[in-house]
Amino acid sequence: MVNLSDEEKMRLFNGVGSWNSYDAGGKVRSFTMSDGPHGLRKQDAIEETEHYADLNRSRIATCFPTSSCMAASWDKSLLSELGKTIAEEAQCQEVDVVLGPGTNIKRSPLCGRNFEYFSEDPYLAGTLAAEYINGMQALGIGTSLKHFTCNNQEKRRQTSNSIVNEKTLSEIYLRPFEIAVRKAQPASIMVSYNKVNGDYAAASKFLLTEVLRKKWGFKGIVISDWGACIGAPNCLKAGMSLAMPDSNGYFSHQLEKVYKDDAEVRAKLDEANALVIEAANKWTGGHQQKADNSKIDFKAHHNAALRFATNAAVLLKNDGVLPLAEKSKITVIGAMAATMKFQGGGSSHISTAPYPNALDSLKALGYEIDFAEGYTGEMGDTSERGYAQALELAKKAVAEKRPVLFFCGLTEEFEGEGFDRDNIALPQVQTKLLDQIIALGADVIAVTFSGAPIDIYFADKVRAVLHMYLCGEACGEACAELLSGRVNPSGKIAETFPFSEKDTPCYGNFAGEEDNIEYKEGSYVGYRYYEAKNVPVRYEFGFGLSYTTFEYSNLKVDVAKREVSFDLKNTGSVKGAEASQVYIQKEGSDYPELRGFEKTMLEPGETKRVTVTLDENAFTTYDTSAHNFVADAGEYTIKVGMSVRKIVLEQKVSVSAEQAAAGLSEVAAYTPDLPLYESFFTNTFYEQHHKGTFTAADNLGDMAKESFGVRVILKIINMIILFSMRGKSKNDPSVKIVLSAIAENPLESLISITNGIFTEKLMEKTVRLANR
Ligand code: BGC
Repeated sequence: MVNLSDEEKMRLFNGVGSWNSYDAGGKVRSFTMSDGPHGLRKQDAIEETEHYADLNRSRIATCFPTSSCMAASWDKSLLSELGKTIAEEAQCQEVDVVLGPGTNIKRSPLCGRNFEYFSEDPYLAGTLAAEYINGMQALGIGTSLKHFTCNNQEKRRQTSNSIVNEKTLSEIYLRPFEIAVRKAQPASIMVSYNKVNGDYAAASKFLLTEVLRKKWGFKGIVISDWGACIGAPNCLKAGMSLAMPDSNGYFSHQLEKVYKDDAEVRAKLDEANALVIEAANKWTGGHQQKADNSKIDFKAHHNAALRFATNAAVLLKNDGVLPLAEKSKITVIGAMAATMKFQGGGSSHISTAPYPNALDSLKALGYEIDFAEGYTGEMGDTSERGYAQALELAKKAVAEKRPVLFFCGLTEEFEGEGFDRDNIALPQVQTKLLDQIIALGADVIAVTFSGAPIDIYFADKVRAVLHMYLCGEACGEACAELLSGRVNPSGKIAETFPFSEKDTPCYGNFAGEEDNIEYKEGSYVGYRYYEAKNVPVRYEFGFGLSYTTFEYSNLKVDVAKREVSFDLKNTGSVKGAEASQVYIQKEGSDYPELRGFEKTMLEPGETKRVTVTLDENAFTTYDTSAHNFVADAGEYTIKVGMSVRKIVLEQKVSVSAEQAAAGLSEVAAYTPDLPLYESFFTNTFYEQHHKGTFTAADNLGDMAKESFGVRVILKIINMIILFSMRGKSKNDPSVKIVLSAIAENPLESLISITNGIFTEKLMEKTVRLANR
């Protein structure tokens, strides 16, 4: 162990600047972190002060499809390749740990950051996260699996309190993290801002020590999300290893006050320090051989981004109009064909080099195009542009019997960090135009862009819908490849597209004005709810079409090996890939659960025997008295599906206790700390503070509601921010995130995220003012 002074030990608990761990004057290695998850957002020090606040200023990197898009590929090998490819860029940009992947469950389609997450299903989300992590870490670059946990909404994400019962928490919200930890041991876990069952996740001994380390055997470091460490001594005792970003001495100050008298703090600090030093030793080797930006093979990476996108985009409807006839005349309407939307806002925003848009890419394939924007694709701008011209072109297309490709989707201000959507509607300026084009009798092919479900209300009135998701920098070329049929679509949605947000299980219990959010729907999340309650949906979980057709036969189930196999035949005339899904349902249960999947590429006429190995937890259930998953013997139905609602083969099997327990052998013996369970799952409400009881763990937004003085301060800060953001609009996600952080981050958190501008003294004064 390195010899560190007490001061250095305390300092090592906190990062340096925005992106580094502390090097104790050269005594230990320092590692560099960078966002993640779908590309590298490596920020440079600009004009001597780090422009951490300007998220969009970073080095050029490849922007890969976002996680919601990658998940739709259902392709494990692509996720591992994604991890590996980003790792190659990290190696050349001197980054040691990439802040990703994110594997939070999509509790509602409205969460502003859903594009950064994989799925509403824990098995799918955990499996894909593990592939990404293994792909990246094989190249010596560490990952940070985030945001642990129950960070399922952006509104008030810094203080909201997710209230979840033990079974739901373990089966749904913790499970993706558990799978990824057990299968891939990420270098680090990023603990989220929010509270869970009354306490900050970052200060939860139950989550960070009992579950993460003791139950799952996590070996890496726990890093706070940026500004999530509220009360350094408590976070340290809970099991946090590194608080980010730099608090300019504030955390050391907090620790100093208790250091002498609190033996637990001293012991925990030694543990945390040892883990940070170990991580630095382990993960700083990755980049050293080739820290040279010019060595990044951007061309190869761009091609990978294109391949990922074409494997992930989802064909939601097609009556035969697609693929387009080769080199035909087409009409394209919609600004998004020119100014493409391919990523979301916030800390995952990648600066890319310019690449061809869909118009240019279609032209390059020989299509003759009439184009009008019809609406502006610009942020916050809901005005029409070339509306009349768009209608004229649509009329001409009807007369000439050529298809109209309508490009539409969510513009920048809808999806990003720090805010959620109110509904799943597309911008009105787009739908108004689309409705008029449909009314003209045009053969419309809708090409849609969003990182989360949108209202495809026009499905029955158009001839095809191709959902591109937010598919990264190669989106223009990907559209052209898929529309032209050069690549056959094979993506399937990894989440349900409901008819309305009102149909979602957590409707009315999501992103309210107060901190407490009750997860009343329990485990009925996503398709589990729609299947159990028979709720009609626009497109069900796992749904996606192809230009070819597939046939399934000869199902065989080997319960002992947890293997399901079948013949899969491509019965159409073009090559295509099929994502086969295996659901299992216990007798008496009201929903099926995804327990395995495999993607298979087939030439026309070709048949392959596909074997799907099921999750080790396939025949288990979470038992709240054992506080663990336990074997669940009995009668099960094994269902092989093209989606959760299109089951093509099924078989009933009896599973013995021994067979059910087989998978659990990988779960190490575990003795739960009963009092810790008891306290975590009782008194789960958080009592909101008010004038007289406000503390530094409250935020300016809440204080401003009750204090004129704080209202004035908040107004002034907002004005300064807007001024310093160089005239950017309030709707710009990079402005929205800063404004929401200032209003919603606890005061303590402002100290580190403002890089010391908001001082400890100011914090204390503000609390006094708010309580006056
Ligand atoms: C985000 C994290 C991100 C971090 C660093 C936070 O606001 O929640 O996902 O990694 O900032 O940029």
